[in-house]
Amino acid sequence: MRLNKFLSAAGVCARRKADELIKSGSVTVNGKIAGLATVVNENKDEVAVDGKTISLPLSFVYLKLNKPKGYACTNSDERGRKTIFDLVDLPQRLFSIGRLDYDTEGLILLTNDGDFAYRVSHPSWEVEKEYIVKIKGEIKESELAVLRNGVVIDGERLPKAKVKFLEYKNDVTRLSVVIHEGLNHQVRKMFEAIGKDIKLLKRVRIGGVSLGGLKRGEYRQLKPQEMALLEGK
Ligand code: URA
Repeated sequence: MRLNKFLSAAGVCARRKADELIKSGSVTVNGKIAGLATVVNENKDEVAVDGKTISLPLSFVYLKLNKPKGYACTNSDERGRKTIFDLVDLPQRLFSIGRLDYDTEGLILLTNDGDFAYRVSHPSWEVEKEYIVKIKGEIKESELAVLRNGVVIDGERLPKAKVKFLEYKNDVTRLSVVIHEGLNHQVRKMFEAIGKDIKLLKRVRIGGVSLGGLKRGEYRQLKPQEMALLEGK
């Protein structure tokens, strides 16, 4: 395995950053300073960064989880709140691919394969993310047009979005919103800009991977076809 891939899979940093680390002379393989072309045998070579030994997980896991509202997407929450990792009963140390807000629910991917996570969450990974949004009251056609064209906040235009009206019932409007980016609070900011308060925000799809029948708090392994779709294969 190429050294940059090893470092990325071990969760040190993304491959491009790993190249910089290697060039800086911080990485050793069996005690010798490594170069960009170094290849490692992950079963027997000892890789270290600044003297600290780095190892790969014994087995990789790839999960999809239905995150409930009221869970943070951090490994340890500084405010002591529950985190999505409290929901997963596995010995591996996992991280999430991207994040959802504390009050957002729905599909989130978890893995311990840093290389996979860095690849599929890179900004150039323009995969569609679909959300179901519920707001109080009705929405006007003109407001939908503003959301679709990209709302302007403090003189800056947020990216365009695909927005579809789904239903209006009991004074609640349900919409589907598809974005390509993962900007901080992107969907909430869109609705704030048109003066609408979000009652429910739920991610139901990332590219070709849907939430499916997962109940709140449930998770399962990604299927090989789902992983291939995420990797754009
Ligand atoms: N957009 C948001 O505003 N919040 C999320 O959690 C995800 C997308």
